[in-house]
Amino acid sequence: MDSYFHYPVNDFGPLMRGMLIGGVAIFHVFVAQFAVGGGMLLLLFEWLDRRGERPLLRRFVGGYFRWLVLVSFVLGALSGVGIWLTSIQVSARTIGLMVQEFHWVWATEWMFFTLEVVAGYAFYRYGERLGRPRRLQLLALYAVSAALSLFWINGILSWQLTPGEWPETGSLWAGFFNPSFWPSLVYRLMVCATLAALAACAVVHRIPGLEAEERAELQRAASPLLVPMAAMPLVGLWFLVTIPADSRGWVLGESVAMTLFLGLAVAASTLLGVYVLQAVARRRLHVDLPTAVLLLALAFAATAGGEFVREGARKPYTVRGALYANSLTPEEVAAFRRRSTLRFHDRYPLREGPFRTEVRVPTDQVARGARVFRHQCSVCHTVDGANGVVHLAGTWSLEQQRLNVAQLQRTKPYMPPFAGDERDVEALVQWLRWRIAGEPETWPDTSGDRDVSHRIHAWLEEAGTERVAPGRPQERGR
Ligand code: HEC
Repeated sequence: MDSYFHYPVNDFGPLMRGMLIGGVAIFHVFVAQFAVGGGMLLLLFEWLDRRGERPLLRRFVGGYFRWLVLVSFVLGALSGVGIWLTSIQVSARTIGLMVQEFHWVWATEWMFFTLEVVAGYAFYRYGERLGRPRRLQLLALYAVSAALSLFWINGILSWQLTPGEWPETGSLWAGFFNPSFWPSLVYRLMVCATLAALAACAVVHRIPGLEAEERAELQRAASPLLVPMAAMPLVGLWFLVTIPADSRGWVLGESVAMTLFLGLAVAASTLLGVYVLQAVARRRLHVDLPTAVLLLALAFAATAGGEFVREGARKPYTVRGALYANSLTPEEVAAFRRRSTLRFHDRYPLREGPFRTEVRVPTDQVARGARVFRHQCSVCHTVDGANGVVHLAGTWSLEQQRLNVAQLQRTKPYMPPFAGDERDVEALVQWLRWRIAGEPETWPDTSGDRDVSHRIHAWLEEAGTERVAPGRPQERGR
């Protein structure tokens, strides 16, 4: 355990750290999936044009593509780097584990991404001068490499939620082709196609000099990409069946926030689906600009809701069974019970807020508590902002606070077991009470109270270091 490395973490209050990375990731997923769908759409148009002389479609491919390149490459690349930048500050160990396990998978994914960018740029720069077969080949290269980069990243992302046989066997391929690999890949590909087709429906209104009939022709040409959407509810169900029962339970009612987000995703995609399918069925797809923008906004809501659910359903893990959200492995939790975490060099100053103000603490015990909070809780909680502990535990009595922190996994099953000894629990509770009391200048030091230590020790022992599977009856009282 001496090899445990204590990474410095950054504080982004009033947002909790997990929310920050979630926000950047949702934006990135939206743009990146749009880029994949854009490849499909361009390939479809180019192919339709080749089959039967459709100059309008060819013009669209040339014009629309510049826009696509600009939006999805620039924003996709920026937000992609943004994910790395935020995640090393929020959860360096999760990223570390992902890199360590999937080194060559990342390399493969980046190779396809490079191919996608090169093919896309080559088409953008030289497309006009190339003959038809070459144009089609270049677009096929773009579309296929974009879809393959999704294929590779999807394995890593779905592994976090359903690592399959990987924890037992350590096999890379068991982790990669894990239980939720296929449903999430199919689902994402459908989302990609939908996003691109909807964006096309909006963009046709921005092309100068188009007649209404021409706009309708372009929208009809894009509509095949909207059809797979009809299968989304089924694929969504398939996904729900493959995820662990406890995660499914939270999504389906046990966690209000997650159920709301799932509801948002389902409602938004159903609305979209019904609207588009009836239009396609009547062969009268004609989407005006406000509707197209509204549909895109619904698609964004569905993406955001879906990603939130996917991230949230992993709790308390970032890699199920292997790494808790606070970057501790189950083995480390057990080890830190025996030897307190604070020996493991959290030497970083206690600072808070956007201006990195130094926190002035009255006692060493409170300082220790602040570090325990930063280490174990701050990824999911802020002090008094989003999911703030001061609000959550502010009305509890002293003994309740001690008990509920010592038995954290019983307090709420989305939380990992407490990783520290009785002195860490007491320090955290004293820090919490000091914050609730409004940070007075003096504060009693209870670290010498042996009765308290004994009680907390007994509670820690009783709860053990195993995670509680939700749904089981939880004894909370004494
Ligand atoms: C994996 C994320 C995660 C971690 C890590 C985590 N929590 Fe929580 N915690 C939650 C969630 C989610 C809730 C539920 C919030 C709600 O019900 O609104 C919660 C609820 C709570 C509550 C209220 C419980 C209740 O019954 O009302 C307290 C107090 C709390 N956490 C304290 C802590 C402390 C102290 C730590 C660190 C030792 C911690 N949490 C670590 C996610 C986490």
